[in-house]
Amino acid sequence: MKKKIVIFEVEGGSDKWINGLRKDTMPIVRAFENLGWLCEVLYFRDEWKDEIYEYTKANFSGFISRINPGNLPYGEELYFETLRKLSEIGVVAISHPDEMLKLGAKDILIKLKNTAFAARDTYGYHSIKEFRKRFPFSLAQKQRVLKQNRGSTGVGIWKVEIHDDTKTFENEPLPLDTLVQCTEAQDNHMEIHTLDDFMKLCEKYMVENNSILIDMPYLERISEGELRLLLIGEKPMAVIHKKPSISEDAFSATMFSGAKYTIFQPEVYPDLIRFFEENAPQIIKQAKLKSYPILWTADFILDFDEQQKDKYVLSEINCSCVGIPEKLIGEFENSFAREVIERIESNFTLKIK
Ligand SMILES: Nc1ncnc2c1ncn2[C@@H]1O[C@H](COP(=O)(O)OP(=O)(O)O)[C@@H](O)[C@H]1O
Ligand SMILES: [Mg+2]
Repeated sequence: MKKKIVIFEVEGGSDKWINGLRKDTMPIVRAFENLGWLCEVLYFRDEWKDEIYEYTKANFSGFISRINPGNLPYGEELYFETLRKLSEIGVVAISHPDEMLKLGAKDILIKLKNTAFAARDTYGYHSIKEFRKRFPFSLAQKQRVLKQNRGSTGVGIWKVEIHDDTKTFENEPLPLDTLVQCTEAQDNHMEIHTLDDFMKLCEKYMVENNSILIDMPYLERISEGELRLLLIGEKPMAVIHKKPSISEDAFSATMFSGAKYTIFQPEVYPDLIRFFEENAPQIIKQAKLKSYPILWTADFILDFDEQQKDKYVLSEINCSCVGIPEKLIGEFENSFAREVIERIESNFTLKIK
């Protein structure tokens, strides 16, 4: 076994720091070095895939993928193909494309539809026909959030509501010329479209990514903030409270939209931790995975249940490129590196048995 690991990044993207890498990447590199491992960072480009495969195969025991969905200019296909090939020859994958797709895509919300994690009425549209048929009903009653399946930083996450809120609709679909107010989580900017035009805009997410659209209720208590569990394996390491900016229309808890992040020890949120630990096995089961990713996050928004008690609703899971909050740098990356090394070593022991 080589005590060498490689980190894959991509050139460009709003998540990069002045050294061209994600800000927490060099602290991770140093954490490995402090544990006696060599850690190298490579940029992935589609045209370099074969060279990257050969070089990684020859030199490293594992890879850490740190590329946000949406940041590869020509999509994730060739990247994932390369990662799969590396994993097949025994290079330990952190994370494996299966984990990223089965857990990290928004359709996990559909897979968990019948569990304690889900909002009451959440739909997944598998075809444009289904979307066109159901969404005008769904929006007629209340505010909704539409999510593209694979994205990040709030791109393609829309809060949608009827522009003229004096209009009411019973059990009938909204007419296609109804004006709807659409706010994107990327930067909380608002656009007004006819329902027809807005649906056309969203159809592109389905066509371009050959993928489903998620339609879930707008959870008003997002104004109280989104709670992110930062996890190593099955262990919650911290709770990050992400409060949307106070400006009107703001509902986004993403970093770049101006949300405020505060970090707490898990003990500060005992109800959330208990709820998560009781139900977490469902996540693995419904995602059809064998184990928890090494580094991942689960985001929750509060709602009320039928007895008006607090209920945590899952808003998304990330395991493609989890960032380490600046305040945790200095400690967290060491725990992460130790866990990675342990996984590589146990994998190696399995192989030589
Ligand atoms: N159902 C919802 N109700 C209210 N706000 C939501 C809902 N779903 C997402 N949001 C807001 O939109 C933001 C981005 O959505 P999210 O699903 O986390 O996508 P991304 O992967 O782009 O971060 C969240 O941080 C949250 O502030
Ligand atoms: Mg998010």
